[in-house]
Amino acid sequence: MSTTATVNPAPSASFPVRRMDFSFAETKKYWWSDDPFMSHFMNNLSSLFPYGEKFFVDSVRAIRDRITDPQLKKDISAFIGQEAMHSKEHATYNDYAAEHGIDLERLELRIKVLLEWVTRIFTKKQCLAATCALEHFTATMAEQLLKREDLTTQIDDPKMYQLWMWHAIEENEHKAVCYDAYQAIGGGYFIRVITMMLTTVIFLGVIGWFQIHLLRKDGQLFNWRAWKRGLTTLFSPRNGFFTRLIGPYLDYYRPGFHPFDHETKALEKDWRQRLGFNN
Ligand SMILES: [Fe+2]
Ligand SMILES: [Fe+2]
Repeated sequence: MSTTATVNPAPSASFPVRRMDFSFAETKKYWWSDDPFMSHFMNNLSSLFPYGEKFFVDSVRAIRDRITDPQLKKDISAFIGQEAMHSKEHATYNDYAAEHGIDLERLELRIKVLLEWVTRIFTKKQCLAATCALEHFTATMAEQLLKREDLTTQIDDPKMYQLWMWHAIEENEHKAVCYDAYQAIGGGYFIRVITMMLTTVIFLGVIGWFQIHLLRKDGQLFNWRAWKRGLTTLFSPRNGFFTRLIGPYLDYYRPGFHPFDHETKALEKDWRQRLGFNN
């Protein structure tokens, strides 16, 4: 377990910023149930975070001076604190990857280039809409991790377990902040859903590309057994990770949708206790 300290950026933000300091020096290469496909799938997701979460922070920072609601302003500060910490810890994840010859840094830099391009050509409101879309992905994926013991018990490494579950709790704690900010600056339904469609295509395209890249570089591209197991975990009709995201994903297209419609407070509380957080 890592040591944690809590820093409250504003006296009454709705959630805290937890300072974490992980080390993955002891983490073995295939830390997800000795499975190359799923270990690389999680490595794949991790490679998106350092610059992805910087993009979220920059998007909300860019419109922060237009927010007047005091509670939302405090929650934006806490959101920035949480995402900055996620970004930092997922950059540390590189140490584990580099130790095993997995070049996540190169993938991270591709995300950096992509998001710099997005920031250049889209308006501040559109960038915030893209952040809302990606925050919906992270919150719903995180919610599933918090609920799926059948998946999380496959994580063999205690540091990885704590990193992913800590991140999953916080994605749900702050899931409404960007959405509320988007609405507060007059963001409407049309831009929200069009941006979600575009973001979905890019997000899934990048994940597919990175997954093949990681497996190929690791000499696992033709490991059909790993493919079969991984694709079953992600897409099996009854219990696939992505299969079970379809309903929550589609809910985003409902006019009047709000992230808190997906109630996770009790789940977050349960997991805070399980990880030994005091708030
Ligand atoms: Fe995050
Ligand atoms: Fe987030």
